[in-house]
Amino acid sequence: MYVSFILSTILFFYISGGLAVNCPKSSANWCDNKDIAQACGVIDQCNKYVWNIHAADDRVNLTVYYETLCPDCRDFIKTQVWNAYQSILSIVNISFVPYGNAREVYRPETQLYQFYCQHGSDECYGNLIHTCVIHLYPNTTAHLPFIYCTESTDGDIETVATQCAEKTSIDFNKVNSCVQSRLGNQLQHLYANQTDSLQPPHQYVPWITINGEHTEEMEQAAEKDLIGVICKSYKGSNPPAQCTKNL
Ligand SMILES: *[C@@H]1O[C@H](CO)[C@@H](O)[C@H](O)[C@H]1NC(C)=O
Ligand SMILES: *[C@@H]1O[C@H](CO)[C@@H](O)[C@H](O)[C@H]1NC(C)=O
Ligand SMILES: *[C@@H]1O[C@H](CO)[C@@H](O)[C@H](O)[C@H]1NC(C)=O
Ligand SMILES: *[C@@H]1O[C@H](CO)[C@@H](O)[C@H](O)[C@H]1NC(C)=O
Repeated sequence: MYVSFILSTILFFYISGGLAVNCPKSSANWCDNKDIAQACGVIDQCNKYVWNIHAADDRVNLTVYYETLCPDCRDFIKTQVWNAYQSILSIVNISFVPYGNAREVYRPETQLYQFYCQHGSDECYGNLIHTCVIHLYPNTTAHLPFIYCTESTDGDIETVATQCAEKTSIDFNKVNSCVQSRLGNQLQHLYANQTDSLQPPHQYVPWITINGEHTEEMEQAAEKDLIGVICKSYKGSNPPAQCTKNL
């Protein structure tokens, strides 16, 4: 009886690759490491309350509607959005919609959309570059530094984009192929559609939504202290230090 218990224990350790861990009696040790947490069935709780890994579902959704050459958009991205990105990315999901006050017309003869931008064709080109970069590099940490770089650098669109691409590990040849393709045109159209579907409709740029909602008050506050606005909307556990230091 005893021997067979020992044998089956050895067998169990053997089968589980020797990784089997028992859940300790004292709950103080339950989050000591992943294996222990697993054994105690408290992975989610450890993630949330001890390891400070924020559940993706709790993250505040920030969407920034903008156009590449508008001075207020550039200011907002290079200060507020950049600061939020650098300090509280663990609690915010940042999405960019580069279109703003542009207009589109569908041309049946080419089966392409033609875009008209507030700051001219250069801006349409810049919007399309951003559209393609976001598509090719969907991870925020991959595309946001490029967006920040182009918005904070003056000069010829293509020169700035090429230099920023090099600085931020973006393959500009790939971006260029997308920009010149039907795909790029279609992606830009999707952002046009998303922008034109806003409720309430946007009246200016930059225009933000937090969890899909926009109010004038929130917009004003965000242009002064976006981090504060995001922190206020964050309903998850363990707000980062940047959210509590000014309380
Ligand atoms: C982030 O926002 C985008 C666009 O709103 C959405 O598709 C995506 O599911 C969000 N991700 C998370 C983790 O909330
Ligand atoms: C953010 O968006 C995602 C995807 O649409 C959604 O699942 C999540 O609940 C949203 N987060 C908040 C805090 O509304
Ligand atoms: C995005 O990139 C960061 C840093 O490279 C990485 O930690 C994270 O897992 C990536 N996210 C996704 C959804 O791939
Ligand atoms: C956005 O696209 C959907 C689906 O194609 C369409 O039904 C809707 O009318 C479009 N909205 C706007 C404002 O263009």
